[in-house]
Formats: sequence, structure tokens, C-alpha cells
Amino acid sequence: MIRPGSTKATNNTDKYLQLKIKLRVDALDNKEKNVLDCFAGDSIIWSEVKKRVNFDFKRFTIDADSRFKTDYTGNALTYLKTNNIESYDVIDLDSWGSPIKYLEYIFNTKFKGVVICTFCSPVSLNPDKILAQISFGKIYENTNKKSILAKNIGSMFEQYLVSKGIKEYKGLLYKKRIYCSFIIK
Ligand SMILES: C[S@@+](CC[C@H](N)C(=O)[O-])C[C@H]1O[C@@H](n2cnc3c(N)ncnc32)[C@H](O)[C@@H]1O
Repeated sequence: MIRPGSTKATNNTDKYLQLKIKLRVDALDNKEKNVLDCFAGDSIIWSEVKKRVNFDFKRFTIDADSRFKTDYTGNALTYLKTNNIESYDVIDLDSWGSPIKYLEYIFNTKFKGVVICTFCSPVSLNPDKILAQISFGKIYENTNKKSILAKNIGSMFEQYLVSKGIKEYKGLLYKKRIYCSFIIK
């Protein structure tokens, strides 16, 4: 679901902003990498990254909201599906809600590189259906959704990554707070 853009709604609270910046600085690895920023918004995070590195890097920006004047205005999933994403070194999924449907697509391409994810799920939301199906198997279909809500989305996300062959990540996967990066080799 696309919600209106707002700098107040970026989940960039001070507490986690530093971690989000660090994950991106680390993803560049002191090299002039080619970044695909799928949820660019006001570019709060990458503006900070730029101040902290002393080399240039390319960044293609996407946002569904035309107010942000990105390189591509529209649904990030449409961009991913209609462009050669293998030419990028880093894909940034600083999404609202769940990044899973974008990850599902990326894992089915030949993309090799760093993926950076944010998964901010308010308490009132169910965990992503794909995550729940992986974690609970067939039980998911018959489970009262309220009971699923009590589960740790961070560990469900970790299980999801393992199911895709990703065993190492940087950052935080904790309950409903997911700010992480990992490498698809
Ligand atoms: C968490 S904010 C991004 C913040 C940004 N990374 C920054 O540093 O300022 C999420 C952004 O995703 C955009 N958005 C929501 N759904 C989208 C979609 N399907 N495709 C592309 N952009 C989307 C919103 O308009 C919003 O600007």
C-alpha cells in the first residue's frame, strides 16, 4: 500500500537513524558503488551518508510520491520488474511496512550485492503473510491472526533470510524493529 510521503513518517527516529546511516556507509565499503534507492523519500539517510564518505557514488532514486522529485516516480516493484537491477551493487529497501514482496522479486533475479532493509510493522498490523507462512507452515491458515501478532517478526524475518540462503546480516532484527543489511552472493 502506498501512503503519502512525509518526513515525519520516515521512521528515521534519532534512535535508529544512526544505525540506518551506518548500514549504508558500510554497504558502500569505501567503493564507488551503484545504489538503487527504492524508497528515497526526502533522502534523509543518504544525505547523511554523503557527508560521511569522501568518494562519489551513484544513486538512482525511486519514490511513489511525485513530491520527492526522484529519478523514477512510481511503484518500486514495477521498477524492479521492468529494469536490469543486476547492474546495481546496493539495493536500499527503506520501506514503510514490509519489504518482503520486493525481496521476493530480488531473490528471484540474478542480482548480486548488498540489500538494505527496513521493516517497520506497527503493533496493529499482522506480520507479513509470507513470513507467517514460512514460520508457521500449514498452521498459519488456521491460526487466529491475533495470536500471530504476538510473535517476534525479527526472528521470523531471520528465518525468512535463512530460507533464502542468507545466514549473515548486519544491524538489528528484533521484534518489530528490523534495520539490517545482507549480501546476496
Ligand atoms: C520510510 S520512507 C523513506 C525515507 C527515505 N529513505 C529517507 O531517508 O528520507 C518510505 C517512502 O516510500 C515511499 N513509498 C511507499 N510505497 C512505495 C512504493 N510501492 N514504491 C515506491 N515508493 C514507495 C513513500 O512515499 C515514502 O517516501
